[in-house]
Amino acid sequence: MESIDWRNLSFGYVRTDYNVRCYHKNGHWGELEITSSEYIPLHMAATGLHYGQEAFEGLKAFRGKDNRVRVFRWADNARRMHDTALGIKMAAVPAELFKKAVFTVIRLNEKFVPPYGTGASMYIRPLLIGSGAEVGVKPASEYLFVVFVTPVGPYFKEGFKPVDILVCREFDRAAPLGTGCYKVGGNYAASLTSLEIAHKKGFSTTLYLDPKEKKYIDEAGPANFFGIKKNTYITPSSRSILPSITNMCLQQLSRDLGLQVECRPVPYDEISTFEEVGACGTAAVITPIRNILDPDTKTTYEFCLDGKPGPVSTKLYQRLISIQNGDEPDTHGWIEFPEQNNN
Ligand code: PLP
Ligand code: COI
Repeated sequence: MESIDWRNLSFGYVRTDYNVRCYHKNGHWGELEITSSEYIPLHMAATGLHYGQEAFEGLKAFRGKDNRVRVFRWADNARRMHDTALGIKMAAVPAELFKKAVFTVIRLNEKFVPPYGTGASMYIRPLLIGSGAEVGVKPASEYLFVVFVTPVGPYFKEGFKPVDILVCREFDRAAPLGTGCYKVGGNYAASLTSLEIAHKKGFSTTLYLDPKEKKYIDEAGPANFFGIKKNTYITPSSRSILPSITNMCLQQLSRDLGLQVECRPVPYDEISTFEEVGACGTAAVITPIRNILDPDTKTTYEFCLDGKPGPVSTKLYQRLISIQNGDEPDTHGWIEFPEQNNN
């Protein structure tokens, strides 16, 4: 793969050799198919196109110093996609099928897993759509499950460097009792206008508040939010945010480091009391936050005054990536090896 500049990869689509697909028809899943086509055949009346019956996932694989490929926490993504499918009345993908699809597509594209030490990884994108035709609003009778992969660099171009974010009150990404806790495309469509506003003003992303009262912190664009103070890792619990697997890791790693962990509604007014704040997710990993601008009160909350990520965020980041790359022992059972799973 001489043509890929691994160290300068952005978070984007790079064509790989294969993707895998499976169809759900007549009430059951068929055989997994392997293809090199980047296109999917889709009926023009598919519910995925009209009524938002669409869900996706994002997970990563890493190459270690030993050259082995490690997949990170696939079972948690399988569970979340299952919950999402039930949430919007789609056929759920069984965990065994999810695993087979993910491990097969990684094995087939092994040469696209970036070399150890480049900071890049393989991003795995499972996609589930209502492919059956309907014109009335109802769940489809057929579904298509696709998994493709692409090598990626950091989501925010800064990498592990502090970013600035903009508080957003004008738009919500999800309704109070809506689909915010599911990984459905509609939430991302709903975020695009505010994201564009943030980008135009020079911010990396938006900070969403709870859609009901705007009193609590929800999440930071495509990532969960956390704050650190008094040896405690604090992160919002909210019905309208995505349950982040990276956040679950950071809670565990915080406990391992001797921090307290609080997962609770986080009042917006608490921002000024944090010593460090950050965004976390598969794509974002840990992205430290430097400034949070509130355009309505014209207040800027400043962190990282020396321009560097805070000490706790740095420790958590290093722990997480060391486990992912195989440099530290995987004491929590987060890693699996596709080479050993010839399913
Ligand atoms: N929140 C949103 C809206 C996301 O899109 C993501 C990305 O998946 C996350 C949070 C982080 O979740 P995870 O750590 O499971 O990738
Ligand atoms: C992820 O972190 O996996 C995401 O899905 C974020 C974004 C690319 C939607």
